[in-house]
Amino acid sequence: MSQWLKGKTVVLGVTGGIAAFKGAALCSKLVQAGADVRVVMTASAVKFIAPMTFQALSRHAVAVDTFDEQDASVIAHIDLADRADLVIVAPATANFMAKLALGLGDDMLTTLLLATRAPIVVCPAMNVHMYANPAVQYNMDTLAKRGIRFIEPGEGQLACGYVGKGRLAEPEEIMASIGRLFDTPKLLAGKKVLITAGGTIERIDPVRYLTNDSSGKMGFAIADAARELGADVTVIAARTSVEPPAGVKAVRVESAEQMLHAVLERCAQADIIIKSAAVADYRPLETADQKIKKHGETMTITLVRNPDILSRLGELKRPGQVLVGFAAETERLEENAQDKLRRKKCDFLVANDVSLEGAGFGTDTNIVRIYNEDGLVADLPQQTKREVAEKLLAIVYDRLQQEGVAKA
Ligand code: CTP
Repeated sequence: MSQWLKGKTVVLGVTGGIAAFKGAALCSKLVQAGADVRVVMTASAVKFIAPMTFQALSRHAVAVDTFDEQDASVIAHIDLADRADLVIVAPATANFMAKLALGLGDDMLTTLLLATRAPIVVCPAMNVHMYANPAVQYNMDTLAKRGIRFIEPGEGQLACGYVGKGRLAEPEEIMASIGRLFDTPKLLAGKKVLITAGGTIERIDPVRYLTNDSSGKMGFAIADAARELGADVTVIAARTSVEPPAGVKAVRVESAEQMLHAVLERCAQADIIIKSAAVADYRPLETADQKIKKHGETMTITLVRNPDILSRLGELKRPGQVLVGFAAETERLEENAQDKLRRKKCDFLVANDVSLEGAGFGTDTNIVRIYNEDGLVADLPQQTKREVAEKLLAIVYDRLQQEGVAKA
């Protein structure tokens, strides 16, 4: 049971689907967890289940009509939107999600959702083919990019007779997911975290470039984990094979030089800087304005050294700031890592042997060793990049605490 819910105001939106009855069980569980639950139903939802059921379970009048203002001193949808700590919509129909994606506000629930600044969790339920429909998936993608969280439907026998994905997640599962989303202690609340991710692109001409295999997955996993710990996260991302997570500020760059500028603009305010990007060490001396035409049998491109962003950050590091570098190695891991840590003046260096299976570029897992100036701090066997991210942030948080104690 989520501890977070105790004393929180939760708006439970119920839209018109057969699973509306499960919304009643969810309402009851939210009340049992100590939440003050305010139910908002759409006009179609009341065709499936009576508002009286929710009124009895929540001990509050149920809102359906935007214009049915019971209390003249407030505007109901704005008042509820402001007071909500969390809005959950269960079940959410395809039509409701389309309206939300478009920003429509034609009833109490959609206007409230436009006005609220509380986190929004949507639990879809519909026929298997409706769920798989590209329009529905597109709307869900749009909403996810805006930071709306989804609790995916389950698979099984659907009310329409089909068997497949589309069944509203069970109320117990929804409660467990809420626990996972909100029970994390917000250890990094008020902290600014700057992360670089992906591989830089160094242009040869308008259609050709030098790059590397970095996917951005490690940097994005750190960004997502830091956001979940309450940090204000900015990711400077070069070329990546995945999208940045929702809820973080993403700044796109191409080259090492662009990344350097983007980082320098923001580094003074950052409490934590994590440089997981794979930055090209060299760039072409010249970038042609037009596509280069082929001439003889060989071609030579002269490369010049790129600025070392991490080293610059090491020089600029202010007291209390924690700087983390990464090192992709294929040999003498410990020696190279320790050397890099000292040369680039970082507090921690995360080293991975990219020649190992399950580590490094493109994979969803990593195998890393984390060093500080005294030596090995953590030796993490193969695990998901997300798990590595959480452990790294726990180590960084400890250092921040020590710095805070040292300053006091
Ligand atoms: N890095 C950087 N700017 C560069 C090159 C690297 O900021 N121009 C950062 C990376 O983001 C990473 C760390 O430095 O955090 C280590 O990168 P790596 O390429 O492994 O190290 P190098 O210093 O380039 O060392 P070497 O080429 O000797 O392996």
